[in-house]
Amino acid sequence: MEGHKEPLRVRVEGSHTNCSLSEMDDFHLTRALEKPRQLKIERKRSFDERSMSELSNGYVRQDSFLDMAHSPGSRSILDTPLSVRNSFEPHPIIAEAWEALRRSMVFFRGQPVGTIAAYDHASEEVLNYDQVFVRDFVPSALAFLMNGEPDIVKNFLLKTLQLQGWEKRVDRFKLGEGVMPASFKVLHDPVRKTDTIVADFGESAIGRVAPVDSGFWWIILLRAYTKSTGDLTLSESPECQKGMRLILSLCLSEGFDTFPTLLCADGCSMVDRRMGVYGYPIEIQALFFMSLRCALSMLKPDEEGREFIERIVKRLHALSFHMRNYFWLDFQQLNDIYRYKTEEYSHTAVNKFNVMPDSIPEWVFDFMPLRGGYFVGNVSPARMDFRWFSLGNCVSILSSLATPDQSMAIMDLLEHRWEELVGEMPLKICYPCIEGHEWRIVTGCDPKNTRWSYHNGGSWPVLLWTLTAACIKTGRPQIARRAIDIIESRIHRDCWPEYYDGKQGRYVGKQARKYQTWSIAGYLVAKMMLEDPSHIGMISLEEDKQMKPVIKRSASWTC
Ligand code: GLC
Repeated sequence: MEGHKEPLRVRVEGSHTNCSLSEMDDFHLTRALEKPRQLKIERKRSFDERSMSELSNGYVRQDSFLDMAHSPGSRSILDTPLSVRNSFEPHPIIAEAWEALRRSMVFFRGQPVGTIAAYDHASEEVLNYDQVFVRDFVPSALAFLMNGEPDIVKNFLLKTLQLQGWEKRVDRFKLGEGVMPASFKVLHDPVRKTDTIVADFGESAIGRVAPVDSGFWWIILLRAYTKSTGDLTLSESPECQKGMRLILSLCLSEGFDTFPTLLCADGCSMVDRRMGVYGYPIEIQALFFMSLRCALSMLKPDEEGREFIERIVKRLHALSFHMRNYFWLDFQQLNDIYRYKTEEYSHTAVNKFNVMPDSIPEWVFDFMPLRGGYFVGNVSPARMDFRWFSLGNCVSILSSLATPDQSMAIMDLLEHRWEELVGEMPLKICYPCIEGHEWRIVTGCDPKNTRWSYHNGGSWPVLLWTLTAACIKTGRPQIARRAIDIIESRIHRDCWPEYYDGKQGRYVGKQARKYQTWSIAGYLVAKMMLEDPSHIGMISLEEDKQMKPVIKRSASWTC
């Protein structure tokens, strides 16, 4: 099959248990709170009835948006609204991107099980880029699902589930049972004609970092697969139910925590080396939140599942409150922190975490627009990391961790700070970079993470898909279109690099791989979502009204 000419395959029906989308969306807090499950009687308007101005002008309500998507077996290109289809011109690089994505596929005993991180023959150092990374496979998986090819995704989910069952050790220390691998590699023996798998749970990774995000992405992907195919048999299988429970028991266990956020070590997610991203980083909190909500929609309320459902509900309640209130920063909130008193004791404290106003970095005063806001990088005692991180903020929108007002504010800020955050290549992994003395202390003098490079303010094309999804969800697809135009103007000439360097993201990254699979897949996913916005249902969750924050501090202009 050739790239963009591939027809969108109609989903295979038959042996699968199909569910309607509204049924799946009903698996939310109300169900979990053991109220009798109510099927939404009121059918939503079909997407065709919706005016596209709703998509481009204002916040699109997710319940209607999600319900219109993926009625199993029924979606076809014909369901795509004409207005969108007409505005969509297939770009010549789409075919090349599909070809490159297929080239990166990894097979185990003849079955496709994932995609390698990079197919860069020119690079002398392979390191572990020839492995299937769980986080890297997510955009590949979404591309395949959106193209009606769910098998590779199912195989991947099952293969990684098997790997989860391995005994995992770092030296003499045994890791938690639920840990999912960061990556795995298939070894082909051409003589014996056998395939074997080696997996890395952090015990081989540079710096021995823990892949906390892998389990979360696995759950999110299981829901995306289920939503896209309507096949409930996979998520309902005892193996998948157990896999979910094992992941959940790792992150829902009780301990010494005083916060509902998840405490992590350095390098536990996309930023997989020392970058000051430890403690309670936004990316992990947003993924944690999203995967809890996804798990809630898939866990069976049987004897073993019920307890987890209850724990999830309680945690979601506390987590959404904490994040929406303490991680949220806008002009008003910044001004409040600037005027904070310190050393407050007892329940009446306003400055609960004893943040020192002097620790507010200079740049944030200029960066913060009057209209707009974002979730800061980290919050813990006397420590607020004011950096803006793109993945955490986009996932907050997709998971509805951000309230509708906050989602709009995040997009407003992005538009306002386009030069800084997008510049000449979407999208900055974080803003701003750290340099000088701070770089020495925070990164431990990491030569790969020098200023405006790699994880330190580098620009990552893969982030285009999360940006596009967030744009569509907030009804602002034109922002995504702008970002896609920029990428299309050069990424293929540059051979699909892993990341770009520089304040504007103008230069191909110093040590960036070429033909980085998630740069390729991220672009395809962004294109397919814009072409058919109903795809967003796979990776987006509607707002849960029961999680409204008690204190309403949302977008700055509401204050
Ligand atoms: C880099 C990235 C990491 C990614 C890996 C493979 O280490 O920081 O997020 O998973 O490369 O592409």
